[in-house]
Order: sequence, then structure tokens, then C-alpha cells
Amino acid sequence: MKLILLGAPGAGKGTQAAKISEYYKIPQISTGDIFRKNIKEQTALGKLAKTFIDAGNLVPDEVVIDLVKDRLTADDCKNGYILDGFPRTIPQAIALDKVAKTDVVLNIDVPFEIIEERLTGRRVCICGATYHVSQLDGSDVCKKCGQKLFIRDDDKIDTVKARLKVYSEQTAPLVEYYQGLGLVRNIKGNSVEETFDEIKKVLDTL
Ligand code: AP5
Ligand code: MG
Repeated sequence: MKLILLGAPGAGKGTQAAKISEYYKIPQISTGDIFRKNIKEQTALGKLAKTFIDAGNLVPDEVVIDLVKDRLTADDCKNGYILDGFPRTIPQAIALDKVAKTDVVLNIDVPFEIIEERLTGRRVCICGATYHVSQLDGSDVCKKCGQKLFIRDDDKIDTVKARLKVYSEQTAPLVEYYQGLGLVRNIKGNSVEETFDEIKKVLDTL
């Protein structure tokens, strides 16, 4: 099962990708998580990506495309994968089409007003786990691995607004692109569990 999660920043792609990965035993490939790991480790890729991410802009297509193509050749992708945050531009989608046949594109639809509240309350762990402050009862450690949670630099309100603008201009057109290929299934982003139930209904018919 090769699937793409589309949706605005904060729509819940990462949250749902983690659940799908656990349930269907396929890897979650989050370009954002890969960049954040590289930023933490201060690699050349991390230093380059940081300048774009901090401004709420996209990392250049050629960098992301090479990274994902390479990741898809790994053994764990043989039975499928979940792309979380890729593709994000039409050139990225075209590059992906050349190397892999996507089975379904899940488009998680959440109004922008709700998204701002979700992102400004988000807490993340370097292991990839994601929480909202409302789930943490004042704790600041990861329930999965015990490391200290942090606030993403790009979750400041001004950067969130910039990311939403970039999404509308560069990523939203992908919905139409994939509709043209007959691959889109729209998912209403309600509660985490309701959203996952809707996703399972779609994936179980594949
Ligand atoms: P990336 O990390 O992919 O960020 P994003 O697309 O902006 O999406 P987010 O991770 O912010 O949101 P999400 O949809 O995963 O939501 P989440 O599940 O966390 O990318 C970061 C940056 O890297 C980009 O800005 C760009 O610069 C660069 N980049 C990455 N990929 C790239 C690419 N392909 N090309 C170029 N550049 C790229 O949920 C959000 C919050 O809401 C959490 O607190 C969560 O607990 C909560 N929540 C989730 N679901 C629900 C629910 N159903 N109800 C209530 N709360 C919920
Ligand atoms: Mg994410």
C-alpha cells in the first residue's frame, strides 16, 4: 500500500501517519521529521533546510526529491509506505510518479482557524511523537521514549501564517492534480480517532 497524506500544516498528517504505520505495519516517511533530525544533528542538509523552514518556506524541490527517491529504495518500503509531507509541489508529484505508482491520496481537510490553535499548542519529541498541550496534563516529557518535548521553531504564529500561505499557493493545487488521476479520497479531520476510523474505511477497501 503506497499512500500519500495531503493536508495543510497542522491538519494531522503526522498524527494519522503514525497510527496508520502502527496498524498497517508500513513505514511513515515524513520529510519534515527528516529535516528536523538533520537540523538537530547539524548536518549540511540540516543547515540548508533550516534557512527555509524557519521562514515558513519550502525546501527546494531538487533537494527534497533526491532525499525521498533515496529513502524509497530502502528495504522497509518494499510493502508500501506513507508519505507525510511529500509531495508538496507539482514538480515533486511529477518526480514521484516517475519512480512509484501511488495507490491512494488521503486529503485531510481541516479549517484554517482550527489549525492555528492546533499548531500553537503542539509539542513534539525528536523520536517523532506529536502531542497537543491539552493531552499532556502539564507534563513535558514524551510518553513513548521519555525525552523532553519541545515546541517547533516554525510553530510561532507568524511562521504558521506564512506556512498556510505557502500551502494555499504551492501545495493545495496537488489536490486537483491527484483528482485528475482519480486517486483522492477526502477525509474530514474531526477528532484523532474519528479521522483514523474514516481512513481505515478507505484503506480497508484497497
Ligand atoms: P512538516 O513537518 O511536514 O510540516 P507541515 O506540513 O507544516 O505539517 P505539520 O507537521 O505542521 O502538521 P501535521 O499535518 O503533521 O499535523 P500534526 O499531526 O503534527 O514540514 C515542516 C517544514 O519542512 C515545511 O514548512 C518545509 O519548510 C519543509 N518541508 C517538509 N517537507 C517538504 C517538502 N516535501 N518540500 C519542501 N519543503 C518541505 O498535528 C498538529 C497538532 O494538532 C498536534 O498538536 C496534534 O496533537 C494536533 N492534532 C492532530 N490531529 C488532531 C485532531 N484530529 N484533533 C485535534 N488535534 C489534533
Ligand atoms: Mg507533520
